[in-house]
Amino acid sequence: MNIAVIGAGYVGTTTGVAFANYGHKVFVIEQDQEKLKKLRKSILPFYEEGMEELLKKLIANGNLLFSHHLEEIIDQCEILFITVGTPSLPNGEADLSYVEEAARQIGRWMNEYKGIVIKSTVPIGTGEKINKIIKAELKKRNEEISFDLISNPEFLREGKALQDALYPERIVIGCETEKAQKVMKELYKEFNSPIVFTTIKDAEMIKYASNAFLATKISFINELARLCDKIGVNVIQVAKGMGLDSRIGPQFLQAGIGYGGSCFPKDIKALLALATAEKTPLQILQAVSDVNQTQTQWFMEKVKKALGTLTDKRIAVLGLTFKPQTDDIREASSLKIIHYLLQNNAYITAYDPQGTEHVKKIYPTISYAKTPLEALKEADAVLIVTEWKEIIEIDWQKAKNILSQPFVFDGRNCLNSSAMHKLGYHYEGVGIPSIDEST
Ligand code: UGA
Repeated sequence: MNIAVIGAGYVGTTTGVAFANYGHKVFVIEQDQEKLKKLRKSILPFYEEGMEELLKKLIANGNLLFSHHLEEIIDQCEILFITVGTPSLPNGEADLSYVEEAARQIGRWMNEYKGIVIKSTVPIGTGEKINKIIKAELKKRNEEISFDLISNPEFLREGKALQDALYPERIVIGCETEKAQKVMKELYKEFNSPIVFTTIKDAEMIKYASNAFLATKISFINELARLCDKIGVNVIQVAKGMGLDSRIGPQFLQAGIGYGGSCFPKDIKALLALATAEKTPLQILQAVSDVNQTQTQWFMEKVKKALGTLTDKRIAVLGLTFKPQTDDIREASSLKIIHYLLQNNAYITAYDPQGTEHVKKIYPTISYAKTPLEALKEADAVLIVTEWKEIIEIDWQKAKNILSQPFVFDGRNCLNSSAMHKLGYHYEGVGIPSIDEST
C-alpha cells in the first residue's frame, strides 16, 4: 500500500520505517527543511540504536521517501497518518494545533477516499474534532469525498522503538466503519501481532490509560521505597517477590528517582486536565503525579543528610538522559538534581554518553566529563541518575582511588549493594537498607 506519514518526529519516522520495512511505500512529510535534508541522507534527528541502518536500507530500496509537500503525494496514498507533536499547554492540556493543521491540509488536498489515521497522542474526543475540521475544509471546496477517521495509538518506548514498531505486542485500532477495518487489516497484514478493534474514543483512552497505569506502578513502588528505606526493608526484593505473581508482573516495579521523558509526565497531565474539566477527579493518578514530583527531592535530601552538607562538595552526576539508550533529556530527573545541587552550592561534573550536548544548553557553567572515570576524579560523592551500561560497568575498585570520598548514591538501584559495601563504599540506593543485612 502507499502511505503518507505527516510529521517526521520520533513517532512519524519510526512508524514510516516500520511500514516501509514490511513492504509498503511510505512518504514521510516534514515541514522543517533542515530535518528533511538530514533524513534524506539517513541522518536521524534523535538517537535510536539500529534505526539509521534500516533507514538507509529503506531509502535505498525506494520504500521510504521524504517530501516537503503533502499535496504532491496525497493522490498516491490511500492511508494518511498524522504523527505530529502534541506538547503540553500551560494548563496541562495537550496542544492540538499541529494535529488540526495537518487535518486542514488533508481536507484541502484530498481528491478521493482516504483512511486518516491519528497516531499522535491526543485527548479523548479529538477524533470527532478532527473529523469536523476535515469536513469543513471539504465543504469550503464544495467537495463530498468520503473518508474514515481512525485512531491508532503508538506504544513505542524510546531506546526500543524499532523493536516495538516492528513487533508490537498489540495493535489498537479505533474506527467506525467496515471499510476502515478492512483497510487497516490490510495495512497490518504482515505484522504478527494481535489487533484490537474499538471505537475511536476507546482507542484514544487506551493510550492514556496504558501510560497512566505504567506510571502508577512506578509511583507505587517509589512511594513504597520511601517506607522501605526508613524501616530497613529491601524494595528490590519486595518487587521481585511481588512480580512473580503473574497478575502483578515484574515490569515497571523498579524503584528509582522518578519517571521522566516526553510521554508519561505530559500524558498524565493531559488526563488529569481532562478529569478536572469533566469534574471527575482521578485521585489515584493525582497521587501518582505528586509522588513523582517529590521523588527526586526525597532522594536529594537523603544525599544531603549523608554528606552533612552539599556546600563546596564536588559531586559526580552520572547519567543525564531520562533513561538509557536515548539522547532525550525531557523531564529528566538529572535536571532537577543539577538544580538542587547548584542551589546547595555544590560543584558538579556530569557525564552522559548521549545527552551531554542537550544539558549543556541548559546548564552551560557546570563541568562535563568525556568518560565516567573522568567525572569521578576527586569527587566527594557520586550520584547515579541514569542506568547506562557504561555507568553500571565502572570498575568500582579502581574508582575508589580516584574519588576523594567513597560515597555512591544510586538513584536507579542499578549496582549491587553488597558488592559496593564489600568494596568499602558508603552506598545508598532507593529503598535499600544502607548497610545490607544480608552481608
Ligand atoms: C513510554 C511507554 O513505556 C511507551 O509504551 C509509550 O508508547 C511511550 O511512553 C509514549 O507514550 O510514547 P518511554 O517514555 O520511552 O515510553 O519510556 P519508558 O521506558 O516507559 O520509561 C519512562 C520513565 O519511567 C523513565 O524515566 C524510566 O526511567 C522510568 N521507569 C521505568 C522507572 O522509574 N521504573 C521502572 O520500573 C520503569
